[in-house]
Amino acid sequence: MTETTTVSTGNVTLNINGSSIEVSKGTTILEAASQNDIRIPTLCYLKKLLPIGSCRVCSVEIEGVDKPVMSCVTPVVEGMNVTTESDALSLFRKQMIQFILVNHPVDCPVCERSGECKLQNRTYEFSVTDQMFFTTEYEKPPVKDWGVIRYDGSLCIMCERCVKICREIQGANALVIDGSGNEAKINTVDGDPLDCDFCGQCVSVCPVGALNSGIVLSARSWEVTRTESVCAHCAVGCSYNVEVKSNRIVRINSNDDIGINNGNLCARGRFGFEAFQSNNRIETPMMREGNTRHIATWDSALNEVVGRLEEIKEKYGPESIAVIASEKITNEDAYMIQKVFRAGFGVNRLETLSNMRVPVLNSGIFDEFGSSTPIAGYDEIWKAGSFISFGCDGANENPVIANMVRVAMRDKGTNLYVINVRDTEFFPAPRMQVQYNYGSESALVAALLRKLVDKCGVADKGGFASSTGSASFVDVIKTSGVSIDDMEELAERIAKDGPPLIFIGKEIHDHPASIDIVKALTNLAGLLGGKALLYREYSNSQGTNDMGLSPVNFPGYIKVDNAQAVSHYSEKWGADIPALSSGGGDIIKDISDGKIKAVVLVGVDPQVHFPDGEAVSRSLSEAPFV
Ligand code: SF4
Ligand code: SF4
Ligand code: SF4
Ligand code: FES
Repeated sequence: MTETTTVSTGNVTLNINGSSIEVSKGTTILEAASQNDIRIPTLCYLKKLLPIGSCRVCSVEIEGVDKPVMSCVTPVVEGMNVTTESDALSLFRKQMIQFILVNHPVDCPVCERSGECKLQNRTYEFSVTDQMFFTTEYEKPPVKDWGVIRYDGSLCIMCERCVKICREIQGANALVIDGSGNEAKINTVDGDPLDCDFCGQCVSVCPVGALNSGIVLSARSWEVTRTESVCAHCAVGCSYNVEVKSNRIVRINSNDDIGINNGNLCARGRFGFEAFQSNNRIETPMMREGNTRHIATWDSALNEVVGRLEEIKEKYGPESIAVIASEKITNEDAYMIQKVFRAGFGVNRLETLSNMRVPVLNSGIFDEFGSSTPIAGYDEIWKAGSFISFGCDGANENPVIANMVRVAMRDKGTNLYVINVRDTEFFPAPRMQVQYNYGSESALVAALLRKLVDKCGVADKGGFASSTGSASFVDVIKTSGVSIDDMEELAERIAKDGPPLIFIGKEIHDHPASIDIVKALTNLAGLLGGKALLYREYSNSQGTNDMGLSPVNFPGYIKVDNAQAVSHYSEKWGADIPALSSGGGDIIKDISDGKIKAVVLVGVDPQVHFPDGEAVSRSLSEAPFV
């Protein structure tokens, strides 16, 4: 008999294997056992999904109940006596596995999941060496027209995890169980080829090899080395494992236990790794002469670059040189780039794509709030009274944050309000969706603040409402296109829900009045005791600005036209930095106008990333040195 364990935080006491255990009401037997380090084998259960109850492998004995009971779906009851291990249970679990295996081909040697298959593990655990059930064989040909995803129905154990994750967490609702009994299979909702987000979440939770990403036979699970890393495709920063065989990435896999993303990844994070090992990647310096490029040594390439930049600086001055750097580079690289160009060449036209599009935002946030960091972190998602998605297409802009929002909506009943200029879609449906006219954002938020104070009785203790503009309510209704009823209902609901988390999206990020809108929205959050979270576009938009990769600021947001800062950095970097004038202006136009003679591109291709790539391309082709 195990030692008695007592947990004092709950209000239901039960016995598991003779140990007295106290857990919160509503806890399932499986959770109660797991919280007290008692293992119950499972197959279909996945912590982040609502219990499914399809495999029966987790069954336990309950005193007074004739048959084994599924522990993953059964809540604890006061005084319950549970047994998790017995000869009868071992036999029952073995029979459940035999039952699942009745129509399962023994394809393990060629299955992608071999070595990490939950069915294989349970088969081994319960010594399933024979078969007591027989059935008619059903042929289920593999489905190969689902894009990057393959489905082999003959390997499917109908655990339903894929259907659940697609609905509950991804919000895509793309999969269903089609048919029943032996004929049951996973299918798309309309039976047509899969047309979905292609996030691969279904593949990642499939406990067997039924859903796979078509990398069959490229690697066995025991042949790969796994390295924990962070996705650099966007600003969320999801953690994942990179699986490498023979120096090539064969799979990106998620892990529910690492990082902020709880094992969720979007399509870019999970499948967007081929670019890392593309044959088109340049691996050595190359120099262009006329229309041909030839391989160069680092020494000759660097000498050429430095020589040409010196020459251009001598002839036209440092303001004729500009740098456009990627926001995916590390803080160390960003710091070094601005230092080399400021201290080495006296160059201050240091740009990133976001700053070129909205020059005021990053610097403005610091000026306004005294801190450059995002205003709220992801842990606020679990504390929020409601979510207000403002100017933000949550499901598409940041799919993994949308995953977290869905879980909070499911588990905590948190309400979502979508306020956007466009009609965006989110599943499950928001509590309210409000569309406004572009340009009315700040006034709309100011009017909402006033409604909250004047009509909903929210006390303006911090002066948030009084400092957020004062456009007339009637005018705001006219210009924003939002009806009085919607405005009042929205105010009443968000006042009742408690401290909101406001997601500020790309629509606002790219807005010419972004700073005013961000300020109004943080005031709205402040009035209701909540927080605001500003979505960033690239993985290190924040860090590149922190490090001074901007024409306005030195590292730490110290203004470049501050004479003290110039002398501080001259001394620190051992160089005579000339007085720098802040401000960037339209760099592409300046190249076309011949003001900029040399452009240094660092890990960035403005032709691809700018909306008018052709104009950028023309402009760059006119620059004497790129
Ligand atoms: S790839 Fe993602 S969206 Fe598509 S079916 Fe699987 S879970 Fe659903
Ligand atoms: S495809 Fe995989 S996850 Fe989906 S029901 Fe079949 S075995 Fe379960
Ligand atoms: S949400 Fe962003 S960080 Fe996460 S997997 Fe997708 S691209 Fe990568
Ligand atoms: S793990 Fe409980 S029924 Fe499958």
